[in-house]
Amino acid sequence: MTIYNFSAGPAVLPKAVLETAQSEMLDYKSSGMSVMELSHRSSLFEEIIQTAENLLRELMAIPDNYKVLFLQGGASLQFTMVPLNLAQGKKALYVNTGSWSKKAISAAKALDNVEVEVIASSEDKNFTYIPEIPKTIDQNAAYVHITTNNTIEGTAFEKIPSFGKVPVVADMSSNILANDYKVEDFGLIYAGAQKNIGPAGLTVVIVREDLLNKKAIFAPMLDYALQAKNNSLYNTPPTYGIYIAKLVFEWVKAQGGVAGITAEDRKKAQLLYDAIENSHLFKSPVEKKSRSITNIPFITGDEDLDKAFNQAALAQGFENLKGHRSVGGMRASLYNAFPIEGVEALIAFMEKFEKENGGE
Ligand SMILES: Cc1ncc(COP(=O)(O)O)c(C=O)c1O
Repeated sequence: MTIYNFSAGPAVLPKAVLETAQSEMLDYKSSGMSVMELSHRSSLFEEIIQTAENLLRELMAIPDNYKVLFLQGGASLQFTMVPLNLAQGKKALYVNTGSWSKKAISAAKALDNVEVEVIASSEDKNFTYIPEIPKTIDQNAAYVHITTNNTIEGTAFEKIPSFGKVPVVADMSSNILANDYKVEDFGLIYAGAQKNIGPAGLTVVIVREDLLNKKAIFAPMLDYALQAKNNSLYNTPPTYGIYIAKLVFEWVKAQGGVAGITAEDRKKAQLLYDAIENSHLFKSPVEKKSRSITNIPFITGDEDLDKAFNQAALAQGFENLKGHRSVGGMRASLYNAFPIEGVEALIAFMEKFEKENGGE
């Protein structure tokens, strides 16, 4: 049975990447060692981390005045590192578009000397849309934080709104390398790797140099400037994760770069949204203009039927389709490495289920 992994993260990786990792597992470039066994100070690993950075710079067209950091602690640690480095003694603005935004907001609020203001929210409708941004916002704020793609709720910013001269900080965990945003529209971007980049345990941060903290942070590991000064090698970085990220970046490049990948992502999402629109059983809980092309929730409106669908889907090899516990129903996460055949197979299965369950 073919397994299709719809997980929201850790998520499906390109098969070609896993095959390369497998072929290099026991003996990386005739070193007689696996990548996991290499010193992070060795020339072989230095080449890996430098290539990973160069490829990411090329794929995302990252300008020279931005640093690329390979860190640990997940996107969740960035919820604290961002305000700690950028907003001490200042005000930070947040757009509240879902569970992950809420966590970012509470982490910032937990810091004594950071003032937090939520400038827009879609919580009134269970985060089923992307809210309008007020015309005037405090131009002296340290930054405005957005979550570009809301993994749980299935909404995304199609375009990045204008916030004047306030730097935009983005949690891009679930749609990095899957959109045509421009890095220069952001002051800082962060992403946990475990969706479009590689295995969990690696976090990528892209930060404009002028935003690097001037004063040392009490905990060296949480200090962007120190991490940047040490080229992410202040301590032992997640070496194997960085190696897999390098392979994924090579794979993205071979797919025609971000433009090529995004075109394919749009095609996959369109197929599923069309099937949902044409169905009499399934519907999307998300407002049309706010829909994510990456995480696509759908429901029948009947919890028992959702449960029956999830059970039957699982038996057919559709893994991890169950929606997040806060939303229910189903959610198909169609990250870059998810094959279009999996979307087609899911749609065929949905049509069959609909016929067998009273649909037309
Ligand atoms: C948008 C978003 N932000 C943050 C997180 C949390 O990431 P981590 O588990 O790496 O801390 C996730 C995880 O799925 C996410 O989807």
